[in-house]
Order: sequence, then C-alpha cells, then structure tokens
Amino acid sequence: MFKQTLLSTAFILSASSAFANTLILKADAALDVRTGKLIKPATVVVEDKSIVSVSEHTPQDSISSDATVITLKGHTLVPGLFDMHVHLTGDAKVHGYERLRRTVPRSAITGAINAQRTLEAGFTSVRNLGASGFADLAIRDAIYDGDIPGPRVFASGPAIGITGGHCDNNAFTHEHRVTSEGVADGPWAVRHKVRENVKYGVDVIKFCATGGVMSKGTKVGAQQYSFEEMQALVNEVHMRGLTVAAHAHGTSGIKSSIRAGVDSVEHVSFLDDEAIQLALKHGTYFSMDIYTTEYILGEGAKAGIPEESLQKERQVGSIQRDSFSKAVKAGVKMVFGSDGGIYPHGDNAKQFSRMVQFGMTELQALQAATINSATLLKLQDHLGSLDAGKLADIIAVPGNPLDDITVMEDVTVVIKDGKVEVDKRVTQ
Ligand code: ARG
Repeated sequence: MFKQTLLSTAFILSASSAFANTLILKADAALDVRTGKLIKPATVVVEDKSIVSVSEHTPQDSISSDATVITLKGHTLVPGLFDMHVHLTGDAKVHGYERLRRTVPRSAITGAINAQRTLEAGFTSVRNLGASGFADLAIRDAIYDGDIPGPRVFASGPAIGITGGHCDNNAFTHEHRVTSEGVADGPWAVRHKVRENVKYGVDVIKFCATGGVMSKGTKVGAQQYSFEEMQALVNEVHMRGLTVAAHAHGTSGIKSSIRAGVDSVEHVSFLDDEAIQLALKHGTYFSMDIYTTEYILGEGAKAGIPEESLQKERQVGSIQRDSFSKAVKAGVKMVFGSDGGIYPHGDNAKQFSRMVQFGMTELQALQAATINSATLLKLQDHLGSLDAGKLADIIAVPGNPLDDITVMEDVTVVIKDGKVEVDKRVTQ
C-alpha cells in the first residue's frame, strides 16, 4: 500500500513538476524533532505531496503566483503524528456483551468515522493492531483511494493468539464453539496464520504474548504463547519482510517476545531490570498506552466494561506508569501507542501530557510520536520529520509544545500527503 503511494508520488513529481501545486506555510516556528531546534520564524514550502524546503525565510524561487499560502500566527509546525496502537473499529461507548452485537460491516462504518476523528486530532499515520474480518484493511484502502478522510493506516488484520487467550473470544460457553479468527496453537499453525494474514494484505502482524485487561478469563500477567511459538511467528513475519508487535503485560511474556525478536512490545506493564536490559540489547521499541487507564477506571463502568476487566485495570494502571518511567530513564526506544478505541478516538493526544508527567521531556514525547514511530515502520526516509524530500505530513499547533505539551490536544491545521485535510483557523 505504502509503496504504491511512493511510486505514484514519484510519478506525479517527475511527470508534472512544471505545474506543481505549491503550498506555503508560514508559522512562528517549525520543530526539528531530531534536535529539538525551533526554526523561527518558519516557512515550509510543499509541492504536490512533498516538502521542498523548511527555512527561516521564504525562498524566492519557490513563490509562484498561484501558490496557496497558509499563515499561522502563534503556531508551531510539527510533523504529522503517529499513533502506533489503535483500534479504529473500536467504539469507546460499546464494551462487554454489547460489543458482541456489532457485526464486522458495522465495525467498518465505526472505523470510517474514527479515522476522520483521528486525522482531525493531528494523527496522520496509525498502526491498527487487531480488527475482525480484516475491516482495518478496508478502512485503509478506502482512505488510500480517497473515498473517506483518515490517516495512513498500517493494518494488522486479526490479531494472532492462543485458544482461550487474550486475542480469542471467550464470552461464550463451549456449546457455541466460538473461536476468533486469529487463533492458532503450535509453531506451524502460527506460521500458517501469519501466512494467511499476509495473503490478505496486512502491513504488520500483531500477536498476544500474555493475558490482558479487556478479555474474559485471562490472567493479565501470565504468558500465553510459548517461546517456541513466538520464535516461529517472529521468524515467519520477518522472512516475509513485515514487522511484528507483541501484546504483553506480564514480565515473562515481555522477555520471551523480546528474545524472540519482536519489533515492538505493546503495554509493557510489569517490567523488571532484566526486561529493560533485553530491550536495550535487542533494540526493541516499547509502545505504552499510559492514558487509557484513566478512561477505563473513570468511564469504563458506564461504557459497559465488565467488572472483571475493571478489576484487572486496578492492578495494571499505576504499575504500567511506573514501568514507563523506568523504561524512559533507562533509554529504551519508545513510540507513541495509545490503544485508541478503548477511550474515544480523537482524544489520542491527551497521552502526551501523561508521557511528560511520567518522565519524558516534551521533545522525547514528540519524538516517540514522530521520528521513532516512522523508524519502527522503517519509513524514516519518507516520514517522521519536517525535512526537504519527505512526504508533507504536517500539523500546526497553537503555541510551543516544548513549553506546554498540552497544545498538542488542540491542532489547528492538518496536512497529509501535501493536502490540507483540516483547517480550523478562525477567519476574520
Ligand atoms: N488492550 C489492553 C488490554 O486489554 C488494554 C490495557 C489498558 N490498560 C492499561 N493500563 N494500559 O490488556
């Protein structure tokens, strides 16, 4: 999917550069996320889908009379944001048994609405980690085709997991014989499941290494796949040229997935020093959804989250935040992942202030949501920073996020692929 985007970009640029659409953004500042340096004032020139220049002055030769100029007083330009763990098909108001009444087609419609909310919040790229019926691929493709607004979606399709595990559906008695489509037991069955997901076009593989909060009958800290199964799964994914994300709360599941070679661990609640050392040694990314706990504990009962899950969340939430602080301090590579869909889509940026509260500098939190995420996706040459030659995914926030990270919750302009997708400037 993404390759196609790049090829068509190259084609458009070479075929019609004489007639390029030029967009000029003028703001108080632009953030170089690699160094934390602010370019002040900033002019960013975009031609078609790409950034042509980022400078303190408007380059004379780029001003064509038909260029669109967007002036953003008091604003900082930041690269389009990444959320590396969302469920676009998830509705925060619908949990527990109510969720079982939602069909896959219905969830795809929910996903279309949530894709727009996510984009409006400044998130121009997301990794969708788990969706029934490959609904996330349908959403991805509809966005790519220009049928609906939304971020670039890197989609996993059904998450892979053991029988009775966090990625299975355990809500029914045995008479009903309900098994989720991503269930596979044993190294070869797991390889087969990866191959199936690849066959249907996923961009990334997600599997459940431990129990979880939102599933029925699973122990949140207990490992589920054996190391042997994880090794087979990761080997298969990497052989096919994709990356793999492991859901893991418990310590042994975190360590086994790192040793098996996963690219990112999700949640990472119960950490110990050895797990941190392993992540540092293997270069594994952590994607820690430290905002969700507030929604689950605050709004969850009203939204229908079962008591069993609320109970598990009470054990996990604050420990996960302590683990986050330890991981940041130790220098583990971090990406921004929020589990959007448990809480309402569009609120993703609320996590930034929690990331700062629990130990990151403002710049580190922004790097997690930009260049680090682009690097995890192996797209750092095309996305993740405001550099000439990269795709023009740019947002404008009202103020300086290095002084006050909460400005990230209030995005004024969103540009994706050089196209103005959102413009909330107040016109006088
Ligand atoms: N999907 C995750 C699970 O069910 C959500 C965990 C949310 N809680 C948290 N403290 N991050 O396990």
